[in-house]
Amino acid sequence: MLKWPNKKPKKLLITGANGMLGQNLVKEFSTDHEITGIDIGPSVFHDEAVNLIQLNLLETEALRETIITHEPEAIIHGAAYTNVDGAEKDADAAFRVNAYVPGDLARIANELDIPLIHISTDYVFSGDNGPYRESDACDPQGIYARSKYEGEETVRNIAKRSAIIRPNVLYGHGYDLKSSFVDWLIFELKEGNAVNIVTDQFSNPTYARRLAVMIRIIIANEAWDTWHFGAKEVVSRFDFAQQVADVFGLRTELIHAISTSDLNQAAPRPMKCGLICDKIEEKLGVKILSIQEELELLKEELHAS
Ligand SMILES: NC(=O)c1ccc[n+]([C@@H]2O[C@H](COP(=O)([O-])OP(=O)(O)OC[C@H]3O[C@@H](n4cnc5c(N)ncnc54)[C@H](OP(=O)(O)O)[C@@H]3O)[C@@H](O)[C@H]2O)c1
Repeated sequence: MLKWPNKKPKKLLITGANGMLGQNLVKEFSTDHEITGIDIGPSVFHDEAVNLIQLNLLETEALRETIITHEPEAIIHGAAYTNVDGAEKDADAAFRVNAYVPGDLARIANELDIPLIHISTDYVFSGDNGPYRESDACDPQGIYARSKYEGEETVRNIAKRSAIIRPNVLYGHGYDLKSSFVDWLIFELKEGNAVNIVTDQFSNPTYARRLAVMIRIIIANEAWDTWHFGAKEVVSRFDFAQQVADVFGLRTELIHAISTSDLNQAAPRPMKCGLICDKIEEKLGVKILSIQEELELLKEELHAS
């Protein structure tokens, strides 16, 4: 039976609060929740939406003490080692953050008897025959992918109550963000610079602002399960870039087609990927929007900020 979002839990802990998803989570929840954020960097927030504690999640005992002191009613784990190519050269760093920290958080969540909302990725799939359902077999390729897969399996095995959410090609608005494909693309096209975009990687990109809303719905419904969340259509990165340019009134002719092999990236990418989102639509009544609808929402968000 579907329950509508209510005001519980009142106190939340968000890891990676400075990051792209983290900032969108703060925006979503700060209106009716007291938020403690944890991030390795100093706060990017210019208001009191979040009590940001600068801490490396690898400091397990300090992490435990911080969480226990703040008594959150749920933990949302948005932090990750997200440098996909960098992970190939520093597997230890990727595994420590992406595979072991989720286990620490699951144990702390159990100790406090609270749920853990863990963010995973489409990279858990090989990308040979997507799009994928939540129930499809995982076959992560590359170090980042394997570290994220181990992270979600650890959460599944340890946490008494958890939701594992897989977005793909996350984009959205935020301050001082490291990298966001859409931000980068809009910047380059506005500058009149030509960009090379791959035609052979397929996904249904996830708009971070709506992902934050989905997380609210998942918590409100105590929907402790694995969920996929992205846009309605699976498209190539090139087609996605064309849609971004169209919606933002930028020059599509500056977008040039290349293939993934032209990029010589260190880590493999899931090529024919994408996340089937029927389950969240059917079980939680969430409407899955088209890429264009979500880009229009981003445009409104950017105008309002
Ligand atoms: N971005 C995508 O396209 C994408 C796609 C699918 C899934 N995801 C997943 O979605 C989640 C959110 O991604 P995002 O793009 O919002 O990531 P992001 O912008 O890189 O944010 C992650 C935040 O966590 C911080 N962090 C990293 N290691 C930390 C540590 N040891 N201790 C404390 N803080 C630490 C980062 O700080 P630094 O920046 O200083 O490292 C950053 O502020 C991640 O789980 C990611 O794997 C992302």
